[in-house]
Amino acid sequence: MWTYRNPVQVRFGSGIFSDLPTAIAGRRYALITYPDDYFRALAADLGGKAGAPALVIDDIAPNPDIRLLAEQTARFAALQDQPEVIVALGGGSVIDSAKVFAAARGDFAAMEAFLKKRAGAETLRPLPLIAVPTTAGTGSEVTCWGTVWDAEGGNKFSLAHGGLYPEVSLVDPALMVGKPRGLTIQTGLDALSHSLESLWNRSANPVSMAHAVAAARGVIATLPRLVADLANVDLRADMARAATLAGFAFSNTKTAIAHSLSYPITLRHDVPHGIACSFSLPMIIRSVADQGGICAEGIQAIFGATGNAAAAQLEEFLKKLGVSPNFHDYGVDDAEFRELVDLAIGGERGQNFIGSKESLLAAARLGADPRKAVA
Ligand SMILES: NC(=O)c1ccc[n+]([C@@H]2O[C@H](COP(=O)([O-])OP(=O)(O)OC[C@H]3O[C@@H](n4cnc5c(N)ncnc54)[C@H](O)[C@@H]3O)[C@@H](O)[C@H]2O)c1
Ligand SMILES: [Fe+2]
Repeated sequence: MWTYRNPVQVRFGSGIFSDLPTAIAGRRYALITYPDDYFRALAADLGGKAGAPALVIDDIAPNPDIRLLAEQTARFAALQDQPEVIVALGGGSVIDSAKVFAAARGDFAAMEAFLKKRAGAETLRPLPLIAVPTTAGTGSEVTCWGTVWDAEGGNKFSLAHGGLYPEVSLVDPALMVGKPRGLTIQTGLDALSHSLESLWNRSANPVSMAHAVAAARGVIATLPRLVADLANVDLRADMARAATLAGFAFSNTKTAIAHSLSYPITLRHDVPHGIACSFSLPMIIRSVADQGGICAEGIQAIFGATGNAAAAQLEEFLKKLGVSPNFHDYGVDDAEFRELVDLAIGGERGQNFIGSKESLLAAARLGADPRKAVA
């Protein structure tokens, strides 16, 4: 038995950004974006067509931190007239911040109680959200959750509420042509991780698998060509499509062990999210080699192989992009990696994983008996 549901309307295409005033439809709106000139120019263009926003929050920093989010939410509280819709123009950090503002409606304490203790879920009424992703990676434009970081406390929280699905997402590949090489690789690998994570997942189902296979095949076919031709809008469109499809895949499963492993690596070793959640993918493919079902079917459909042969292909792919599949290269030693596997398996996302701690350690060549490690 399985179910699949995703209520987001996606409007996709080069130039679809011009639909944004229609999507706002005369409502009082808050605009959330980055401080860079490129985004300021887009905001000015929007203001000219949709009227001035009720509030602009344009100091979004990568990996939205709980302290800055509290301060930004207070700017909503100070408004006489609350916005009727929130427009997120940016990557995952912008869309996830917008989800926090939508859930808080100016009351950060209520949002925080829900975020940390799941308190008040029944009274949380998030504002409607319009997402315009400018990275092809997080899939946040079609999910109902957002990642909130607490750098000081060394923590990461996941905001999740059915009311946080954007009502509309405008996916415009033309907005992505200015992404530099490093960011293109990081965000593309984040999307690959989302698709594979939805396969070795307790909530995997035939619809999520179909999206995951199409997404992973899209990333693998496109990313190496795109990094050699960053201004190519057709390749940007292929990557944007793959990232949104990966979003549809994990919108119903959440992520799993690779993301669970990644959060402390980002917090402790400053490794960007897209790299931290993808370098371990070949190792995880090896660790699920004995699993059947949707996981095996999906991996076979993507790589034409499972187990070692699929993992070796993915290792080659990562290395060609300059990404090492070896945790030592991120400043993590054997002892720390064992600790991270323990933490990850016990973590919220780790519990979605269909594999075992033992098979992971063996695939990482950290098994009790190294001779038993999978070659
Ligand atoms: N909600 C989810 O389901 C989900 C999934 C995965 C990751 N995340 C979170 O998303 C965040 C990462 O988001 P991201 O990878 O999209 O990056 P980001 O939003 O953090 O942006 C990173 C940098 O890219 C720049 N940038 C963005 N778009 C650009 C463009 N079109 N041209 C040039 N520069 C551009 C920004 O100015 C910024 O400096 C992390 O906090 C991560 O934890 C959320
Ligand atoms: Fe991710």
